[in-house]
Amino acid sequence: MQNIDAQTVFYGLIGHPVGHSRSPLLQNELIRQFGLNAAYMAMNVESGGLKDFVQGMHKAHAGGFNVTVPYKKDVIEELVSIDEAAQMLGAVNTLKYTDKGWAGYNTDLPGFRRALAYDGVSLKGKNVVLLGAGGAAMAVLAGIFQEGAARVLAANRTEEKAAELIGRFEHPGCMTETAVMDGKYLAKRMGELSAEPWTAVQCTSVGMLPHTEEAPVTEPEFYLRLETAYDIIFNPARTKFMRLAAEAGAKDFNGLRMLVFQGIRSFEIWHNVKVTDEQALEVLKLAEESFRA
Ligand code: ATR
Repeated sequence: MQNIDAQTVFYGLIGHPVGHSRSPLLQNELIRQFGLNAAYMAMNVESGGLKDFVQGMHKAHAGGFNVTVPYKKDVIEELVSIDEAAQMLGAVNTLKYTDKGWAGYNTDLPGFRRALAYDGVSLKGKNVVLLGAGGAAMAVLAGIFQEGAARVLAANRTEEKAAELIGRFEHPGCMTETAVMDGKYLAKRMGELSAEPWTAVQCTSVGMLPHTEEAPVTEPEFYLRLETAYDIIFNPARTKFMRLAAEAGAKDFNGLRMLVFQGIRSFEIWHNVKVTDEQALEVLKLAEESFRA
C-alpha cells in the first residue's frame, strides 16, 4: 500500500455485508500499479444508511464507489446521470464523483464481455443456454445479446422468471426460448433447435462454496451438447458444473475473470486509464491466490 497523505483520494465499496469482498485487494493493487494517490476500502453500510452515506461522501469529495448487494437498485435515486448499461439493467455498481453529483455506471456487463474476449470465447452466431434468471443472469443475458448470439435457451427452476428476464431486452436477430431447469428436457430441446454445439452460462447460485458437490443440471446428455461451459461462480475455482462439462469434452471457465474485469472497468472509469491484459493478469493472479489461501 502506498503512503496515505492529505491528498489521497478515497474510493470504496458500498454493500451489506462486504466482509468477504476481494475488491479492496484488487483495487489497491491497481492503484499501486498505476502509482495513484488513492485508497480503496470496503464500507459495510447498514440498512437505511445508504442515502446519508452517499450524500455525505459526495460532500467529502470521495472519488467513487462500487456498489453491491443490496444497494444496486436503491442507489439510482442518488445519481445525477446513468450510463446506458446501468439504464438497461436497472442496476448500478459504480459511482463516479462529478461536481454536480454522482454519475452511475454498470460495469458487470462490460466486465462479462471483456472476460469472454480475454478467454477467447466468441458468442457471435452461437447457440447459448443460460442457466438461472436472477440478478447475475441479467447482465450476462444482456452481454450474450450484445455479443450477437444466434439463439438463447433460457432455463430456470421457475420458468416464468426466465421469460420475464428475456422480456426485458430487445434482441433482434436472436431466437429465444425458455425452459424449466431439467437436464433431460434441455438436452432434447437443444438437439431439436440446432445440431451445432452449445455454450452454457451458469448463473444460478448452485455449486457455490460450501455446496461444491451440487450442480443445477447433472444429466450427462446435457453436457454432451456443450463446447463451452462458463460458470459465473468463482469460489470454488472449479464447480461441479465445470467438472461435468469438462468430462463431457467442453472447455470450462469460472467467473473470476468476470469479477476482476468488472472491477477493472470501474477503475478505468474513475481514473480515465486503460488497463491492459498484461496489467489485468497481475490482478487476476492476486485474485486467484486470495481464493486459494
Ligand atoms: P443472483 O443475484 O446471484 O443472481 P438471485 O437473484 O437470488 O441471485 O438468483 C439466484 C438464481 O439461482 C435464480 O435463478 C434461482 O432460481 P429461481 O429463480 O427459481 O429461484 C437459482 N437457484 C437458486 N437455488 C437453486 C436451486 N437449488 N436449484 C436451481 N436453481 C436455483
